[in-house]
Amino acid sequence: MKQGTHFARARARINVALVKYWGKRDSRLNLPETGSLSVTLSDLGTTTSVRFDASLAEDRFVLDGQEFHGPPRDRVSAFLDLVRDLAGVRERAVVESVNDIPASSGLASSASGFAALVVAATRAAGLDLPPEVLAPLARRGSGSAPRSLLAGFVEIVAGTATDGSDFRVRCVAPPDHLDLVVVVAMTGSAGKAVGSREGMERTRRTSPFHPAWVAQVTTDIERARRALLDRNFEALGRVVETQAFRMHATALASDPPILYWDDCTVRLLGAVRSLREGGVECFPTLDAGPHVFVLCRSGDAERVASALRAIPGVRRVLTTRPGHGAEVLE
Ligand code: PMV
Repeated sequence: MKQGTHFARARARINVALVKYWGKRDSRLNLPETGSLSVTLSDLGTTTSVRFDASLAEDRFVLDGQEFHGPPRDRVSAFLDLVRDLAGVRERAVVESVNDIPASSGLASSASGFAALVVAATRAAGLDLPPEVLAPLARRGSGSAPRSLLAGFVEIVAGTATDGSDFRVRCVAPPDHLDLVVVVAMTGSAGKAVGSREGMERTRRTSPFHPAWVAQVTTDIERARRALLDRNFEALGRVVETQAFRMHATALASDPPILYWDDCTVRLLGAVRSLREGGVECFPTLDAGPHVFVLCRSGDAERVASALRAIPGVRRVLTTRPGHGAEVLE
């Protein structure tokens, strides 16, 4: 390791999938069965520092001020091994992460978490790698993390090679391409019912709808990409809404069933429908959690946010826009 390159700090934001990824074709390499399309959001994210230190006997992981042992630390440690192998580094590291969002809330903190970690860990290990090289590494931590490396509207091309060599991530359009606000309504539920790794695997193994889901995603990505490039907000919103319901439908059809929603989720979806009936163009999407992300135009954002805030059971409503990719802070 080069002198003075033992420490780095990086920041990455969460992304919300406009066309979801739900299923892996190789769990060891964490390769997705399908591509996906997302928007990286401003404001919400993770800041992570990594310090390699020869005096440490083992890796340490501190998240939001609390030191973790066991599985969360082991996952970070296994990820650091990939970086150590690449950089030829042997030292253990201290990883300190701070989230602007509750971990495991279904707000995709694993995406911003592993995007920030891959940037900070490679820099601290003395490497300066472009997103093409960082993306497959970030994927090993979390399937949606490569998308948080880039700004704006981002596509994952899953590829077909068994070793993942044709897996790619690319920016489809910059953050200011579309007048878009994402209003995030968080429900009161704490934690995820089923983690996304387990949820995807159970769905792939047991849901009779899953092959239909996989077959549909390519068409959904093409439609969403076209609508985005044409700046056709309504067409994009319709694909996004339908696609989210399709993902939840295949998960619901698993055995045992996987339901990520709570009663507040259903009320939020009803409120979005009422807003639309009242002439406000807005479209919901949901990841592997109960919270609802609502896409709307900036001129409607305040109206949408206050309507969602009035729903019983809503804990917090945040307004975000398309944002930047991951960056080195120091
Ligand atoms: O990257 P993971 O393992 O947290 O899975 C992400 C799954 C979804 O958020 C539901 C969909 C997606 O494409 O982000």
